[in-house]
Amino acid sequence: MQNFTFCNPVKIVFGKGTIANLNELIDPKAKILLTYGGGSIKKNGVYRQVRAALKKRKVVEFGGIEPNPTYETCMKAVRLGRKEKINFLLAVGGGSVLDGSKFIAAAISYKGKDPWEIVKSYGQVVKSAISMGTVLTLPATGSEMNAFGVISRLSTTEKLAFGSPHTYPKFSILDPQTTYSLDKKQLRNGIVDTFVHVAEQYATVDLNTALQDKYAEAVFKTLVEIAPAVMSGKKDYDARANFMWCATQALCGLLSCGVKGDWSTHGIGHEITAFFGLAHAETLAIVLPAMWKYEIKNKGAKLAKLAENVYGVKKGSTKQKAAAAIEHTVKFFHSVGMPTSLKAYGITLKDAEKVVNRFADRGSILGENKDIDPKAVRKILRLGL
Ligand code: NZQ
Ligand code: ZN
Repeated sequence: MQNFTFCNPVKIVFGKGTIANLNELIDPKAKILLTYGGGSIKKNGVYRQVRAALKKRKVVEFGGIEPNPTYETCMKAVRLGRKEKINFLLAVGGGSVLDGSKFIAAAISYKGKDPWEIVKSYGQVVKSAISMGTVLTLPATGSEMNAFGVISRLSTTEKLAFGSPHTYPKFSILDPQTTYSLDKKQLRNGIVDTFVHVAEQYATVDLNTALQDKYAEAVFKTLVEIAPAVMSGKKDYDARANFMWCATQALCGLLSCGVKGDWSTHGIGHEITAFFGLAHAETLAIVLPAMWKYEIKNKGAKLAKLAENVYGVKKGSTKQKAAAAIEHTVKFFHSVGMPTSLKAYGITLKDAEKVVNRFADRGSILGENKDIDPKAVRKILRLGL
């Protein structure tokens, strides 16, 4: 096991009717900037609950943070926040609203000239941020309990992640009932994103991290178990509650303690979104199986463990079990209605060269073994065709 430091300061308030606790969670003197997305919270009653809880508070609103939040939109909120002298940010929505709000919180406080530096430096230049809280409405990204944000810049077709100890939310309210209005695509995306977060921390080199591996397997197994109930679209509270908690646990830092992370599937996936506009999870479902096929030797031991402990594959060599893990995972993605090929979106290998060139230009090499260079990216995209 590798050395690690673990500290997660986010207070989670979980369960039915918990939005009503908002007033107690925010400093009485705060002037709040309430951020949200394209309007789902106005249709599903979440906005009404938030405003009811904040009845007597000073609140300024900023709506319109889009899926894959853009620098361009977030900067409008930064200007509004500075003008209104807000000192607390309340993000209400999915991962995009939360991520955009983390950037806004850091950018309002940023003393440097160009706030894009926050993203370009992967968060290194962030020295402070406005305090924020969240009300999560879409289980997927884990943004509610981590310090990361992913921001896209339209003018340069970039999509980059940043993180800083200053951008952890102070609290996150997770009421599984807020997920009842999600459509099947959003549910499937959330399940796949959660699965791949666990995979990027688990299917790497085996470093004898017995407890972390069992935690990871528990999240995988729970997802596989509850997926049919979640995908049924019914208002099944327990299924939604288990789903929501899986998504949070998958990327709150616990599973990565002492393990070597991969994150190359996410790295390649972000570029596919930047160039072709696919939803985040759609890109991951293409890249993960292809990545595993390409890396089957290096990841063989962990993939075999996944096959045994999650999918119940008991027979065969390590190599056969690893291949079975890939097959079962593809089947699982298909079972929730998620395509696993570039073709499904009309993307050809020639189109995908843009992604390869992006890595070549940046000179970045990915993967837990630092072996995913641009040539490897091309081979992986070919496997994902
Ligand atoms: O904008 P509104 O109107 O709110 O609608 C959203 C949006 O259209 C809708 N939605 C959210 N909650 C809803 C709802 N519709 C009905 N009922 C509800 N309860 O869903 C659509 C998608 O929302 P979005 O926030 O974009 O989805 P998600 O939570 O999957 O976030 C994706 C973003 O997070 C980044 C991704 O790259 C992508 O930009 N990620 C963030 C991470 C992090 N912070 O740690 C890690 C992830 O790997 C990921 O990269
Ligand atoms: Zn993700």
